[in-house]
Amino acid sequence: EKAGHRHFMAKEIHEQPQTLSDVLNTYIDGARVKLPTDYDFAATDRIQMVACGTAHIACTVAKYWFEALARLPVDVDIASEYRYREGPVGPDTTALFVSQSGETADTLAALRYAKGQARAILSVVNVPESSIARESDIAFPIHAGVEVGVASTKAFVNQLAMLLALAVAAGVQRGKIDAAREAELVAGLKLLPGIMAQALTIEDRCEALASKLAEATDILFLGRGPMYPMAHEGALKLKEISYIHAEAYASGELKHGPIALVDRTLPVVVFAPMDPLFNKTVSNMQEVMAREGRVLLVTDSDGAAQASDGVWEVLVMPTVDPVFAPLVYAVPAQLLAYHTAVHKGTDVDQPRNLAKSVTVE
Ligand code: M6R
Repeated sequence: EKAGHRHFMAKEIHEQPQTLSDVLNTYIDGARVKLPTDYDFAATDRIQMVACGTAHIACTVAKYWFEALARLPVDVDIASEYRYREGPVGPDTTALFVSQSGETADTLAALRYAKGQARAILSVVNVPESSIARESDIAFPIHAGVEVGVASTKAFVNQLAMLLALAVAAGVQRGKIDAAREAELVAGLKLLPGIMAQALTIEDRCEALASKLAEATDILFLGRGPMYPMAHEGALKLKEISYIHAEAYASGELKHGPIALVDRTLPVVVFAPMDPLFNKTVSNMQEVMAREGRVLLVTDSDGAAQASDGVWEVLVMPTVDPVFAPLVYAVPAQLLAYHTAVHKGTDVDQPRNLAKSVTVE
């Protein structure tokens, strides 16, 4: 049932080109994005996203997409905070809940809080018959199939893919994306499963790097823009299954505190595809290197050509339009954590103290 893989997590990581194409096929229609159920994003003035764990990280990536592509303001909250905060919910706000299981207690309670106040309750779920799906006005299924590993992999990537589709649909409806740009985005989406398959070829490199990362007691992850939430994804995956303490920071925050941690024992993983923020991230990376921090730069071939000098290790990812980079950079986040955990001999699929579905608060 693990299809020849040592762990469910490995199987699920390798299923991603297929599961990603499964969700893309539900909303790509020729050169257009057509949502499985219509929703009018032109009639809302704000999106409130709520989720826990990895699903919360997917929402944080989606905030960048909705704001840039659809010019729609987004707030993102952790469900356990949102449900008790007594935040006002305007009648024009769209509330959007993201959950793989659809049964997470805090996310469900947050949904019930917003119900009756928000313009509509939307959800992005993997289990279509779940409580969160049933209690939503519209549930958008992500078609990732059953995910067994406690550390979410293919569901996270499909959450991203579905949220990106919603952002593109919103951009079109709100007149911020014209037909030519939509066609360009759709063409890019169609290439993504192939690029994910290419991204998986970094596995051997990740395995080699893992033996070095496994010696660390702390690891820092840095990124800017949508790579900032992806740094959180890298840190969360690593903590969950390897039990190594990891933290994520926005690169620009480095000098506001965490740089004090940097010495020659600290691996710093930097997610930096070649995008308009690349040079800024590189200058933060150089601040780490000047203090003997060991930088693992995760970038593409252009980035590697420009910024490999003095770097501890470089992991070269396929080149991709920066809009899609979060999906592709999920792969090194997963594989670095997976192989570090395997190297340490922890229980990858059932890490200590964790449950796949958190149905109590
Ligand atoms: O089922 P949900 O998506 O609501 O679960 C939320 C979190 O418990 C979940 O994403 C958790 O953080 C994962 N173990 C992360 O890999």
